[in-house]
Amino acid sequence: MDKFLIEGGRPLEGRVSASGAKNAALPAMAASLLTGQPVVLRNIPRVRDIGTMRSLLDELGVDSSVKHEEHGNRLEIQARQLLNPVAPYELVKQMRASVLVLGPLVARFGHARVSLPGGCAIGARPINLHLRGLEALGASVRMDHGYIEMRTEGLRGATFHFDTITVTGTENLMMAATLAEGLTTLDNAAREPEVEDLAHLLNEMGASIEGAGTDTIRIRGVSSLHGADHPVIPDRIEVGTFLVSAGITGGHVCVDRAEVGHLAAVITKLREAGVGVRANGPHELEVEKDGALRAVDLDTQEYPGFPTDMQAQWMALMTQAEGASVISENIFENRFLHALEMMRMGADITVEGRHAIVRGKTPLSGAKVQASDLRASASLVLAGLAAQGETLVDRVYHIDRGYERIEEKLNRVGARIRRFSE
Ligand code: EPU
Repeated sequence: MDKFLIEGGRPLEGRVSASGAKNAALPAMAASLLTGQPVVLRNIPRVRDIGTMRSLLDELGVDSSVKHEEHGNRLEIQARQLLNPVAPYELVKQMRASVLVLGPLVARFGHARVSLPGGCAIGARPINLHLRGLEALGASVRMDHGYIEMRTEGLRGATFHFDTITVTGTENLMMAATLAEGLTTLDNAAREPEVEDLAHLLNEMGASIEGAGTDTIRIRGVSSLHGADHPVIPDRIEVGTFLVSAGITGGHVCVDRAEVGHLAAVITKLREAGVGVRANGPHELEVEKDGALRAVDLDTQEYPGFPTDMQAQWMALMTQAEGASVISENIFENRFLHALEMMRMGADITVEGRHAIVRGKTPLSGAKVQASDLRASASLVLAGLAAQGETLVDRVYHIDRGYERIEEKLNRVGARIRRFSE
């Protein structure tokens, strides 16, 4: 199992490029199940979850091939026919986003059998709204030995209101509705840029979707979809992580190939905390520490609010800010495991339910820490960059799920991170 050895205390300086967004690439791959023609996806990040989704497509009997391009991979997927509409437990337990195949499978083939995802390190994460939404479109749902067994004679458009805003739930229903008969309206839909990117791809494939990016999405069903060639959007969470890496080390970093408009909430908060962030046009951000860091309270929210996927990285930053900051996690009920590891490095953090109080500034000292999930691992790398001495981050496979060779990118801007296996 790989580990990172980080030699901390070095300000980062230089230029780094963003990869494509994992959370846009995964639904785009699932969307390719909606047509028998080839779908070409570009700017695909070289991360482990993409490999897991390819294994799942393979399991379903779908062809895919990958080509290395200058920026990300080019992935060509062709779902000519389906051999086996089953997403097995072994893959779903590795990656919950596997449930994204449910909507496309049932819409195109009338049948899907997908393992129910089990527990998760960051919260219960049920998928009841995916199922209720697909039922509203006319699918029958049955639980069978840990699997969701879904069938339909043909989906019909409907109006569905999400009680809770869900990103992959919105994506699943939007994909299914493209091939349903008539009009589907999704109310209280997720507004994340990844949802909008998926809608762009689906429209390029011949779907008729309006309103993606707002909380009401209207989908007029069509009888079939065709192939497309689509670059996925940049990874706003990876960009945000790089911005914090400069802020926490007191460095000066430019992040290019970004989509500045997707990071408004993160940029606002960084500026409040005393991190100087400047946009050099729509695709580049320059970040420089601007005096001492100040404690700033934070509430995670659905987009366009501050993303839960940046909460752990923010916590690392706040350990180096003067004063007390209250971080409230409003999306997931158990997303503070990184706090315990940061405390082992010298941070002063109290967790009370959905709130964490970080009192700074405390010097961090290198320690052995363990990653519990993807974003938690990123936050421990950031803490390690700011710490004196050596930090050993264990279970780096979590970070490889969603960050493309983060140690190589950070080393290019002056970090000292060594990957090794034990
Ligand atoms: N929820 C329900 N019922 C449902 C679906 C969701 O109650 O049927 C609840 C969840 O338990 C949670 C809230 O709704 O409390 C929001 O969850 P959401 O469904 O939006 O999360 P997700 O779609 O499973 C995606 C990202 C996550 C990201 C969240 C929130 C992908 C593949 N995953 O997950 O990304 O944290 O949205 O923005 O898009 C990550 O990349 O590290 C990651 C965890």
